[in-house]
Amino acid sequence: MDAVRAQHAIGSPLLVASGISKRYGANVALAATDFSVATGEAVAVLGENGAGKSTLAKILTGAIRADGGTVAMAGRRVALGSPRDALQRGIALIPQELAYVPQLTVAENIMLNRLPGRHGLTSRRAVEAAAAALMERLGLWVEPTVPMVRLGVSDQQIVEIVKALGRDSRLLILDEPTAALTEDEAQHLYGILDAQRAQGIGIVVVSHHLEQIMRFVDRVDVFRDGARVLSVAPSNTNPAALIAHMLGSRPEPAGAARAVSAAGRPILQVSHWSAPGRPGLTDVDVRVCRGEVVGVYGIRGSGAALLAEGLGGRRRDVRGTVGIDGRTRAVMTSPRAAIRAGISYVPADRKRDGLVLSQSIRSSAAMLVLRRIARWGVLRAEAENAVARSYAGRFRLRHASLGQPVGQLSGGNQQKVLLTSRLAADPRVLVAHEPTRGVDVGARREIHDALRAVSDAGTAVLVITSDVEEVVDVSDRVLVIRNGRIVAELVGAAITQDNAVHHAAAEEQT
Ligand SMILES: Nc1ncnc2c1ncn2[C@@H]1O[C@H](COP(=O)(O)OP(=O)(O)OP(=O)(O)O)[C@@H](O)[C@H]1O
Ligand SMILES: [Mg+2]
Repeated sequence: MDAVRAQHAIGSPLLVASGISKRYGANVALAATDFSVATGEAVAVLGENGAGKSTLAKILTGAIRADGGTVAMAGRRVALGSPRDALQRGIALIPQELAYVPQLTVAENIMLNRLPGRHGLTSRRAVEAAAAALMERLGLWVEPTVPMVRLGVSDQQIVEIVKALGRDSRLLILDEPTAALTEDEAQHLYGILDAQRAQGIGIVVVSHHLEQIMRFVDRVDVFRDGARVLSVAPSNTNPAALIAHMLGSRPEPAGAARAVSAAGRPILQVSHWSAPGRPGLTDVDVRVCRGEVVGVYGIRGSGAALLAEGLGGRRRDVRGTVGIDGRTRAVMTSPRAAIRAGISYVPADRKRDGLVLSQSIRSSAAMLVLRRIARWGVLRAEAENAVARSYAGRFRLRHASLGQPVGQLSGGNQQKVLLTSRLAADPRVLVAHEPTRGVDVGARREIHDALRAVSDAGTAVLVITSDVEEVVDVSDRVLVIRNGRIVAELVGAAITQDNAVHHAAAEEQT
């Protein structure tokens, strides 16, 4: 990778943004910041949740308008008043909050805006063939005929990536493109981007995966409170220094310690789960005891998502039983049934399954404790506030007021509200699927600490994740799932990223 970086030439300035500002009421999202990218250059944009990264990306792609500042491309000032303007100038965005049309198929979404007629795409089959050809060329594959609604977040993310890469762009802006991808998939994506960069395309990547992104980019820009505070070559910095710039004067939070005490009696017992399909599930058993955090690690298509959704009551095709505190029942087939059984589920797709974007932070945070709070009558609003306020402080929620709609928060801050609502429910079992997707490094540790704390307080905590660093950091015991089966259990010193990745690797061993 370093050899590649040394060889390719960074050209003339492609896009130069100066003094860009944006405010929402009293809330300053961007404070007269500068930003630039050259032809053939890859720039990482880093910063805490709410630092203004997505706002910048949206302004540069015409999705929203800046209040002030200028943008020049190849030396000439341009107006980016709409996404169309930006597309015409060759600027493509892969948004953080994926913007697909749920009723359409994968192929239709990929070819969207190029339909119909142009390029001879008149029939459904032609659209499918064109999308398939593009995916084959890029080496990224999602079944073209499947409706988008049926996809998990990582497949949705692949579709967005294919869609953007299929356009002839001069500048590609990717807002957390790897948040739902595994390390291997991310590396594959960076390989593709590398080829684009070699052709002189400018690349901007927003990411919270510091070490991963530093290996790829030519420059790292750190944003804090709506402005760029550092712009540096990766070879002249390190993750600790970057984190210090992101946080400003605040101290870095300490990580959670692994539990040393032995686990207590079993609280959650998943037994003999099976489900049809590829990979489906085959005889999956998972036990979580009092006082332990169990991690399930699996890559895209491993069956990990099926397991998570089954525990959240989102599947009707899973057979087997669930025991909670010794009481055994069939797999829950509705979200309500899962809640009634004592399971609080953090879905991977917060927008589809987790949050109502128009609802206030206050009522979203207290969503699952409503019934308890309702008994307090007039004190209800106060109680909702108390729940929301305590977690807002703990997770450093960046918000204007607790009455603000969740949809106005940055992606990572929405994730914090989702976590709050599930943690505050004080459940018997907490099933967290990709709990820190899109969350910054500081908040990630706070969330891992919070998972540890609810576990210590007696809740069974199961973290299902495709993030190997996360599973190693947070778990007392790690189960690795591959092709729908639990293929390894790691305890103690065996809990390492290498071990987990090795067992999860998709290669068929025939
Ligand atoms: N529509 C909106 N209304 C009000 N405030 C908004 C709106 N959109 C963004 N903001 C605010 O602007 C600030 C910057 O948000 P932005 O989405 O750019 O953050 P970010 O750096 O992308 O964070 P993350 O890492 O969580 O995605 C946040 O404080 C956010 O709450
Ligand atoms: Mg963002």
